[in-house]
Amino acid sequence: MEAIKERINQLCEIIEHHNFLYYVKNQPEISDFEFDLLMDELIKLEEQYPEYKLPNSPTTRVGSDINNEFVSVMHDYPMLSLGNTYSEGELRDFHNRIIKESELKPEYVCELKFDGISISIKYTNGEFVRAVTRGDGTRGDDVSNNVKTIRSVPLKIKHDDFPKNIEVRGEIFMSREVFNMLNEQRRLTGEQEFANPRNAAAGSVKLLDSREVAKRKLDCFFYYAMGDELPANTQWESLMLLKKWGFKVSENIKLCKNLPEVFEYINFWDKERKNLPYDIDGVVIKVNSFKQQEILGFTAKTPKWAIAYKFKAEQAITKLLSIDYQVGRTGAVTPVANLEPVLLGGTIVKRASLHNADQIALLDIRLGDMVYIEKGGEIIPKIVGVESHEPNSEPTKFIEFCPECGTKLVRPDGEARHFCPNTESCPPQIKGRIEHFISRKAMNIESIGEETVNLLYEAGLVKTPADLYKLTKEQLIKLERMADKSSENIINSIENSKNVPFDRVLYALGIRYVGETTAKKIANHFGNIEKLASASKEELMQVDEVGERIAESIIEFFNNKNNIKIIAELMNADLKFSLEKEEKLSDKFNGLSFVISGTFNSFSRDELKDIIEKNGGKILSSVSKNTDFLVAGENMGPAKLEKANKLGVKIISEEEFLKMLNE
Ligand code: IVH
Repeated sequence: MEAIKERINQLCEIIEHHNFLYYVKNQPEISDFEFDLLMDELIKLEEQYPEYKLPNSPTTRVGSDINNEFVSVMHDYPMLSLGNTYSEGELRDFHNRIIKESELKPEYVCELKFDGISISIKYTNGEFVRAVTRGDGTRGDDVSNNVKTIRSVPLKIKHDDFPKNIEVRGEIFMSREVFNMLNEQRRLTGEQEFANPRNAAAGSVKLLDSREVAKRKLDCFFYYAMGDELPANTQWESLMLLKKWGFKVSENIKLCKNLPEVFEYINFWDKERKNLPYDIDGVVIKVNSFKQQEILGFTAKTPKWAIAYKFKAEQAITKLLSIDYQVGRTGAVTPVANLEPVLLGGTIVKRASLHNADQIALLDIRLGDMVYIEKGGEIIPKIVGVESHEPNSEPTKFIEFCPECGTKLVRPDGEARHFCPNTESCPPQIKGRIEHFISRKAMNIESIGEETVNLLYEAGLVKTPADLYKLTKEQLIKLERMADKSSENIINSIENSKNVPFDRVLYALGIRYVGETTAKKIANHFGNIEKLASASKEELMQVDEVGERIAESIIEFFNNKNNIKIIAELMNADLKFSLEKEEKLSDKFNGLSFVISGTFNSFSRDELKDIIEKNGGKILSSVSKNTDFLVAGENMGPAKLEKANKLGVKIISEEEFLKMLNE
């Protein structure tokens, strides 16, 4: 029993060490697979021996679906905010006031001002105790369960020179990459998108289901420590301590001896911030010496020894010349502004997004207006306000009819967007569906681009994805600028697409709200298109990630006669509409369980797994008494070896495995 307790403690330490290497230091030492094996082993042991489970076990990082309760708690130290400035003059005033009030020339620590939400985390005896949001500065919400899912937040402090009680402060944020992925997913499932990464981070920290939070891939930088006997005399030293203790501290900090150095830092990051993977909205300038900080003290709300220098959002003013209305694959109509060209953030801007009818009405945007444009996280800038209207201008009326096919637009309940309902014959919808069908993540028919789709459509050759499979080389050669070779390439890549697996075919069909991942889950659940097409709403909703909205959209798709006709034609063309049956090579390993570890010479781990499964064997993720063989590769984990030895599991080398296979 003691041995099990010890193994659990050991696993917690090993796993947390690898979390630290991966999420704080960005220097992983083991593969994801090996990490998962360790985690699996710990999960199983904790299930078997719950009495030994540690309260701050790394398994808490996956969250739980038990509803969170956010209790409001008092901060031990109030959470202050910072004074703000946008001007160099005010920063000089701040500097002069410091010299006057403390009678000392200050050194400053310059830090990035992360654009997320602040968090205060208490550690007692080096253990994570609780995490509290800022709230009103005096009281905040206890969001511990959610914050524990953030892998860069230590559950335990490293080394042991920490005071009994410390409180650390930092900023929880979402990287732009994760934010874009999250929004893309929400777009597909019809959920409201987040306006920016900060809102996404704030929304995530307050989710009721911590398992969902774990999926949001939040991150956290730390910039402040408090405690009774903090072994540091300066802000710089305290940042170094935090780093040593295992907290994620930004690399982009600078100790500045004078004001010109501070300005240099500000100007550098104003230009460079677009290259960071996360948003910052300024820099924070802090007096380095704690003694000097103490002399300066606080106002009611802010420390007098620190200030935030905020960057101006890049803005420009220009004239709105006209509005285009673009129709997408789903029939959604997006208004786009044509602008008098203007320089913004180093590029010339001619177009800007107007989002939807509500946004146009809200800002009262009219033709001929002088408008403010701003660059957010997106590539295309947006109009954020109107400076002036032209005399006699009229409020903009959103178009009533589709600019492409003339059909009257509709605006479904609860939708901010207008749609053209003419799905059958509105050209951009037809072309959009074909473009989606051939795209890389769908059928990956790479020899056809947007231009060719246009040619094929204009020539009357392709109106549905199924028409692609009826094309002949003779038809293609007759098209404009189409050479013999490229016609052949097109025919070949269309032919090759017949091998694309069922889940991607399903995605390619373009069912609204069914993205890549959902398509995969649906394909695995139902196995073939017949079962999917006849599934009820309730049956559909049994699939992971399929909610009411997606289920209804799938039913609507299969109720449409045209869609059924296209599917029938695609089936005739031999596309895959069911999961591939696993080809079985032999029954050699029937009833035998294998664990594989390390790396191999003759095959990758996935290939090895595949071979075992195709010969009837089973793959287990960790060694247990049910394991028959441990296939030991190079650099295998010593823990696994030890365990296999202890349980008497047979350990075989790659050569021995090959011998068994070929016997
Ligand atoms: S120090 C008493 N440092 O900005 C000092 N704050 O506008 C407390 N922030 O509430 C804050 N990056 O949420 C500090 N490097 C940084 C920061 C930072 C972002 C946030 C923080 C704070 C707000 C003040």
